[in-house]
Amino acid sequence: MKKTIAEESIPELTYEGEVALDVMRKRRTIRHFTDEDISQKEVETLLEIAMCAPNRLDRRPWHFVVIRDKELQRQLADLLRVHPYLEAAPVVIAVCGLPKVSPTWIMDVSAATENMLLAATAVGLGATWVGPHDTVLWDRCEGMLHDALAIPRDDIRIPALVAVGHPAQELPPHGKHDRFDPAKVHYGNWGTHEPT
Ligand SMILES: Cc1cc2nc3c(=O)[nH]c(=O)nc-3n(C[C@H](O)[C@H](O)[C@H](O)COP(=O)(O)O)c2cc1C
Repeated sequence: MKKTIAEESIPELTYEGEVALDVMRKRRTIRHFTDEDISQKEVETLLEIAMCAPNRLDRRPWHFVVIRDKELQRQLADLLRVHPYLEAAPVVIAVCGLPKVSPTWIMDVSAATENMLLAATAVGLGATWVGPHDTVLWDRCEGMLHDALAIPRDDIRIPALVAVGHPAQELPPHGKHDRFDPAKVHYGNWGTHEPT
């Protein structure tokens, strides 16, 4: 059986459990893509898993617009000054949120976005979450998306784009060695960093 990287994990964890944890460790922001296209089946899988995300009161205040338009992608990349991944990606997904449907829409769509990134990792794709939310550049980008994609302005926000494709770079997985920070964990009260 293929070894996973989660060897120092919980004893007696199932292989499936190890693999799931590995996917979360392996998810990295991929900013270089090959020319290879991604299939409709892969796009649908990413969206299916995005829509499995937790969300308050199960209101699912999200929509997703699948973009395969190199000219628009180039314009967005120019506007946001993020080259080359936005125009190089075979698919860019505009993550939309509906503030009138739920006051927690930004958290709900963020959970969906993270799910999408994890699904991309699981199927061997790479992705970048693009969304310098609440900046002048992003406001312009949102306006461009509203116009280009005919997204109704009054009811729908676009907090993020996800550029997805086949990775042309390899980044090391995260894990205890680089991410786990005991100083950020508190047991029982703020001053205690050891389990009691
Ligand atoms: C809300 C949000 C917005 C982000 N916006 C961008 C962005 O505009 N451009 C970009 O290259 N990466 C963006 N990222 C990715 C982060 O830069 C990346 O997650 C972080 O550097 C950690 O690297 P890792 O994802 O490989 O662990 C964004 C991530 C989040 C959660």
